[in-house]
Amino acid sequence: MKIGRTLLSKLSRGIDQVMDNLGRTVASQTSPTRENSSSATSSVLKEDEKPRTMVAPKEEVIRYIADSLMKVGASKEDAVTVGEHLFTADYRGHFSHGMNRMEMYVQDVVKKLTDPKAKPRIITDFKAVATVDGMNGFGQVTGKYCMELAMKKAKEYGIGMVACRGSNHYGIAGYYSLMAMSENLFGFSCTNTSPLMAPTRSRAAALGTNPISLGARGSTSNDDFVLDMATTCVALGKMELASRKGEPIPEGWALGADGKPTVDAAEAVRTACLMPLGGEERNSGYKGYGMALMVEVLCGILTGSKFGPNIRKWDSSSGDVVADLGHCFLAIDPDAFVPGSRDRLTDLVGLLRGLPTAGDMPVLIPGDPERGHMRKVDREGGITYHDNQIKASKLFAEKLGVQPMRLVEKTI
Ligand SMILES: NC(=O)c1ccc[n+]([C@@H]2O[C@H](COP(=O)([O-])OP(=O)(O)OC[C@H]3O[C@@H](n4cnc5c(N)ncnc54)[C@H](O)[C@@H]3O)[C@@H](O)[C@H]2O)c1
Repeated sequence: MKIGRTLLSKLSRGIDQVMDNLGRTVASQTSPTRENSSSATSSVLKEDEKPRTMVAPKEEVIRYIADSLMKVGASKEDAVTVGEHLFTADYRGHFSHGMNRMEMYVQDVVKKLTDPKAKPRIITDFKAVATVDGMNGFGQVTGKYCMELAMKKAKEYGIGMVACRGSNHYGIAGYYSLMAMSENLFGFSCTNTSPLMAPTRSRAAALGTNPISLGARGSTSNDDFVLDMATTCVALGKMELASRKGEPIPEGWALGADGKPTVDAAEAVRTACLMPLGGEERNSGYKGYGMALMVEVLCGILTGSKFGPNIRKWDSSSGDVVADLGHCFLAIDPDAFVPGSRDRLTDLVGLLRGLPTAGDMPVLIPGDPERGHMRKVDREGGITYHDNQIKASKLFAEKLGVQPMRLVEKTI
C-alpha cells in the first residue's frame, strides 16, 4: 500500500488530535510519556468502579490492530504479527503492553521513526548463533523472525541464539518464550529499552525497564513456567495511578528530584526515574540494576544497537530519533540435555505449590497470574478493556478511517 504525503500529514494531525482528546479524557493526565500517551494505559485503570458487560473477542482485537497498521503501510502478514502479539499481551493481562501500544506504533510510523515495510536481515550467521538487523521495522516482526531462527538452530544444534539491533519496541518478552515453548523448547528473551531506571547510587535514569523472560514446559500447561518481568520495581504506570488517586507510593519504587527515594507519587511521575528491582541498595536493588545491565550486555553491547542512556527518551522529548533497540533470543532443546525435563518441572512445581503458606494465598508459579487472566477472558468470550481504552480506540479508528473494534456481550 502506498501512503501519500497528504494522507500521512492528515493522519499525523488526526493522531495528534486523538492524543489531545485523550489528554482531556484521562483526568489529570501528567507528562506525555510513551507509556501513557497512547489511549487508556493501565495507569488509569479503575477496574472495579463499574461493571462492564461488553468484551472484545480475540479476532476483533487482532483485526482492528492489523487494519490500523495496514492503513499506515504495513503488509497484512506483518500487521497480523503485531496484532497477535498485542492481543496476547492483553489476553495475559499485561494491558500496558497490549492494544494500547498500537497507537504509539502508528505514531512512530507516521513520524517516519519506524519503517512499516522493513524486513529483518541476517548480518552474521554461524552455526547456533546469528545476528539480525531489524532494519527499523516493527519490533514484533523482528522479534518473531529472530525467535523462529533461534528455534530452527536449537532443533539442529540443541541451542540457538539470535541477537538483533535496529529494532523497535518488541512488546512482551514472554511472547518469544511462548513461541519456543509451543515447540517443546525452552525460550529466553530480553530487550533493552529507553532509559527510565537509575542505577544504584545514581540519581539519573540511564537504563531501561529491560524485561527478561524464560519459559519452560511442564507436563501439563498448568505447570508451565513463564517468567516475564521488567527489571525495575514497577512500571511508570503504577506510579501514575497512585498519583491520580492521591496515594503515596512505597519507598523504593522511584527517586524524587533530590535523588532520594520518594513516596510522593506525583513527584515520581515527574522525575520518571525508577529504581531497579529490589529498590534501595540496602534491599539489594543493585541486583535489579545488575540484571538490567545483563540485558544491555546481551542486547546493546552484543549487537551494536543503541544502549543505556544513548537510547532515545521514552517521552515525547525524544523528537525524531529512531529507537535502534537490541533484543536477544535463545531457544534450547531440553532433550539435547537430559530427557524428562517436563516431568521434572511438574514435580518441582507440585512441590512449590504444596508448601505451607504464610497466609491465605496459595504459592504461585510464574505464569499462574497470566493463566488466571486467560481463563477469565476465555470464560467471558473476550477481553474487557477499560472504558477509556474503548473510547480512545474508537476515536483512533475514526481518525485512521478503519472499522472500530466491535464489542460483544460477555458470555457469562
Ligand atoms: N518491551 C518493553 O519495553 C517492556 C518493558 C518492561 C516490561 N515489559 C513487559 O511488561 C510486562 C509486565 O512486566 P512486569 O514486570 O510488570 O510483570 P509482573 O510484575 O506483573 O509479573 C512478573 C512475573 O512475576 C510472575 N508473578 C506475579 N505474581 C507472582 C507470584 N505471586 N508468585 C510467583 N510469580 C508471580 C508473573 O507470572 C510474571 O512472570 C511483561 O510482559 C514484560 O515483558 C516490556
